[in-house]
Amino acid sequence: MSTGSQRTLVLLKPDAVRRSLVGEIISRIERKAGWQITALELRSLTQDVLEQHYGEHKGKPFYEPLVEFMSSGPVVALVVEGERVIEGVRTLAGPTDPIAATPGSIRGDFGTIVRENLIHASDSEESAERELKIFFPGLA
Ligand code: PPS
Repeated sequence: MSTGSQRTLVLLKPDAVRRSLVGEIISRIERKAGWQITALELRSLTQDVLEQHYGEHKGKPFYEPLVEFMSSGPVVALVVEGERVIEGVRTLAGPTDPIAATPGSIRGDFGTIVRENLIHASDSEESAERELKIFFPGLA
């Protein structure tokens, strides 16, 4: 288990923006004591960014639907910093499949189908480093 202050990349996916759930999700993140949002941007993702971000999944059956969905509208990209924030945001999000997510988690409360699961959060320190460079290359 990692300890200490970390930073993670969070994407509020096009379904979260379309369904006006951005404020609700951000307020759940902000309620966590000691976590801080240090960058935030609404943006449309290019094919190039999506290929870099999801490249490890190329060839899997869900890759094309995932990329198509992630380009279907703008996302909100955030950097969140704080104690064990990588594990913590994934706990707040719940598992990939909203049907398997417990009520109280973001996907458990608002998720519908696997593809439209509202939120991406880096899954490890290595992923966070890699993903933050793609989305916020200017960060120190
Ligand atoms: S894996 O193979 O276990 O690493 O895959 P997983 O972590 O479950 O999912 C990787 C990302 O793919 C998304 N995903 C899907 N998108 C669309 N359709 C389907 N069926 C599907 N299955 C998985 C999943 O939400 C992950 O995206 P992020 O952005 O990381 O949440």
